Amino acid sequence: MDNSFRFKNADYSAFISTKEYEADKEIGYQKEYLEELKKLTVRFGEKIGHAPSACVVTFGCQMNARDSEKLAGVLNEAGFEITESEEADLVVFNTCTVRDNANQRVYGRLGALHAMKKSYPDKKIIICGCMTQEPPVIEKLKKTYSFVNLIFGTHNIYKFPELLCKMFESDKLVIDVWKKSDEIVEAFPTVRKYPFKSGVNIMFGCDNYCTYCIVPYVRGRERSRRSSEILDEVRRLADDGVVEVMLLGQNVNSYGNGIEGEISFPELLSKTAKIPGIKRVRFMTSNPKDLSDELIDVMASSDVIARHLHLPVQSGSDRVLKAMNRHYTHDEYLALVAKLRKAIPDLSITTDMIVGFPTETPEDVDETVRLVKEVGFDNAFTFIYSKRTGTPAADLEMAMTPEKISECFDKVLKTVQDNARSCAAKLTGLKSVALVEELNEHDPSLVTGRLSNNYLVHFPGDASMIGKLVNVELTENKGFYFYGKAI
Ligand code: SAH
Ligand code: SF4
Ligand code: F3S
Repeated sequence: MDNSFRFKNADYSAFISTKEYEADKEIGYQKEYLEELKKLTVRFGEKIGHAPSACVVTFGCQMNARDSEKLAGVLNEAGFEITESEEADLVVFNTCTVRDNANQRVYGRLGALHAMKKSYPDKKIIICGCMTQEPPVIEKLKKTYSFVNLIFGTHNIYKFPELLCKMFESDKLVIDVWKKSDEIVEAFPTVRKYPFKSGVNIMFGCDNYCTYCIVPYVRGRERSRRSSEILDEVRRLADDGVVEVMLLGQNVNSYGNGIEGEISFPELLSKTAKIPGIKRVRFMTSNPKDLSDELIDVMASSDVIARHLHLPVQSGSDRVLKAMNRHYTHDEYLALVAKLRKAIPDLSITTDMIVGFPTETPEDVDETVRLVKEVGFDNAFTFIYSKRTGTPAADLEMAMTPEKISECFDKVLKTVQDNARSCAAKLTGLKSVALVEELNEHDPSLVTGRLSNNYLVHFPGDASMIGKLVNVELTENKGFYFYGKAI
């Protein structure tokens, strides 16, 4: 059992965008299923001869990670011991399908689970998350991975207690995947991975339809939670010892669209940062196309809001940005960065980039390299384009061979790394505040802390410091991270 997992008291706060009555009713049903599930868990334990354990494995983004905490919360409440080992009696794969290699990782790991299940047939295997929203994936799972016990999608995750009951009562594969949902039902207790920090969903789905991206198809239309619900959740987290929250959405800048009278994202951020006990607020992700001056003002005027902005640019070529449906140009992105840096000089800026988008030429990639140099990103995730069936880009012709794409990718990556190293080197000697996250993996006499600007620092300390904010000096730069000392 990983001691960092903590059981959080059941908290059945609920919200449904337009139909609060139905949400209450739904939560009532799921509570009843949870009671039923507790009995089924006891029976399962008797059958296997020990207290049952469960492991939830997350693939993909922070929003998936937050969903996993909810899944673990239900399993914990039902009587499972939560572990981090896939040897557990019940394993949930919460999947991602943003790029094909995410899918391949899941298939590979399922192969390993199959081998375990052959020698332990009572083992339960569950697949949920974004991959399961794709019909061809379901076909493949049914055909090749029929040893799985339960498959469900992103839209009915709040029915997890009911789905688990169905699984325990059936000796066949149970599949329940919905095409869409307009509802937001938050009905779960959670088991947080870290006691001192937590993600908080502020919205679900995405309406931006960037032409390469599958997220709108597997996560559905954009739906915002009400701010009163979000702020209540943050207050409860603060009461439970959380000092850092990350507000989560695929494009937080369009928070509140579609809810009459709702506050804007900058207002929500500002209110979150004022909640007693909350020492640091982060947010992800911000689409550059509608990042407002109001947001910059709010960030600049609060010490609690992290000095870090993840601002995915995707490409530096105007032609490619247009084909991607991103709604900004190279120069507009640069102007936005300049405005941000003027208002918040110590802001670190990170990004995502795609290389090898259909129709993209080496000249387009040169524009991306130029942008990386002009901005000087603190860091960047660089991805090779992955064709996602059903997205508009999947119908476009490729202009480069895989070899050429790989060459271009290396060029972008090298520029990113050179820039990142020189950004980090400039911070050597800085005095700042680190939130201690864990003991250092390699040297237990050190702790690892995260600065407001998202850089990591390793410095002498012990487990009692975990979850605390410590004043530190960055004494030595190691490329992308630092060694330091408490001051
Ligand atoms: N909502 C966020 C991104 C979520 S997906 C935003 O708009 O910024 C995270 C990242 O995965 C994206 O920023 C993009 O760089 C990458 N990505 C998405 N679809 C991809 C694809 N088909 N191939 C390669 N990378 C992709
Ligand atoms: Fe995908 Fe674009 Fe939505 Fe981000 S904003 S999730 S990249 S469609
Ligand atoms: Fe992946 Fe789904 Fe997130 S596709 S990136 S887990 S929204």
